[in-house]
Amino acid sequence: MKILLLGKNGQVGWELQRSLAPLGELVMLDANSKDLCGDFTNLNGIAGTVRAVAPDVIVNAAAHTAVDKAESEPELVRTVNAQAPAVLAQEAARLNAWLVHYSTDYVFDGAGDKPWTEADPTGPLSVYGATKLEGEQFIRQSGCKHLIFRTSWVYGARGGNFAKTMLRLAQERDSLKVIDDQIGAPTGADLLADVTAHAIRAARQNPEFSGLYHLTARGETSWHGYAGFVLDYARRAGIQLKVAPDAIQPVPTSAFPTPAGRPHNSRLNTIKLRTAFDLHLPHWQAGVERMLTEVLESDK
Ligand SMILES: NC(=O)c1ccc[n+]([C@@H]2O[C@H](COP(=O)([O-])OP(=O)(O)OC[C@H]3O[C@@H](n4cnc5c(N)ncnc54)[C@H](OP(=O)(O)O)[C@@H]3O)[C@@H](O)[C@H]2O)c1
Repeated sequence: MKILLLGKNGQVGWELQRSLAPLGELVMLDANSKDLCGDFTNLNGIAGTVRAVAPDVIVNAAAHTAVDKAESEPELVRTVNAQAPAVLAQEAARLNAWLVHYSTDYVFDGAGDKPWTEADPTGPLSVYGATKLEGEQFIRQSGCKHLIFRTSWVYGARGGNFAKTMLRLAQERDSLKVIDDQIGAPTGADLLADVTAHAIRAARQNPEFSGLYHLTARGETSWHGYAGFVLDYARRAGIQLKVAPDAIQPVPTSAFPTPAGRPHNSRLNTIKLRTAFDLHLPHWQAGVERMLTEVLESDK
């Protein structure tokens, strides 16, 4: 099997480099790749890359993910999040290849408190959410075999993430305020990458698995709950903190105004994915603990 991985150096792309390696020959690109174009602002270049590589599976981990910045550069964001995936889908259809793509809880308006299913109506609150939804729609309309995984609150051990920011702030500051009215599931890039590899293997044997799936870790929390979990873990690991886990102040989203709107309810119902692929999704705390262990050990 030949796999073309785009966006290889993002949080998810980095983990896919590992998880896809045993499946077959991997061609991995990012926006700066030299021999083949991996830059999503160059639509002809992206089409040319797919034609040159002729993969069995295209995995797209590239996206414009700067949610607030996106509000001020909607055309660029639409090119990267919607038009480039549309090109990938057209080329995949031409080759009869699979396209694996990631989308987001930000396609929803965040109303209510029930976990969203794949059949629920969408209503993005931001340029990022709207362009990610458009990307999904282009892929579904293209007729290519596809797996679209909508996920939420992604973190990786590599680079910056919310947990590392909370650890730093709790050591520097005397008080900490964190939003408590957005609810979702922190989901590790490693889990996404591992599930992707399993799903590709299963889908190659079962073309009827083509479709849209919600994929997050199990359980739910708020950003406030997530921060409390991180600080509690750090304190038990012997890290000196100026802010105790139970001293984090809960605040509403309105306390931190941002250019982009964010859904209050980011819960995603994952039963379709678990049933189709016969997979178990671990609780979010398990992945966050593992990431924190790596982060704290590398700081020693
Ligand atoms: N992060 C989240 O919380 C979250 C939540 C839900 C869904 N998702 C989705 O999950 C997927 C993976 O996200 P992630 O967390 O891994 O994001 P990420 O770390 O921001 O990775 C995205 C990658 O895309 C690259 N990229 C940006 N513009 C590009 C362009 N013009 N051409 C080629 N590559 C470009 C970025 O490169 P640079 O870094 O050099 O710009 C980066 O390597 C995305 O589809 C995202 O929408 C993410």
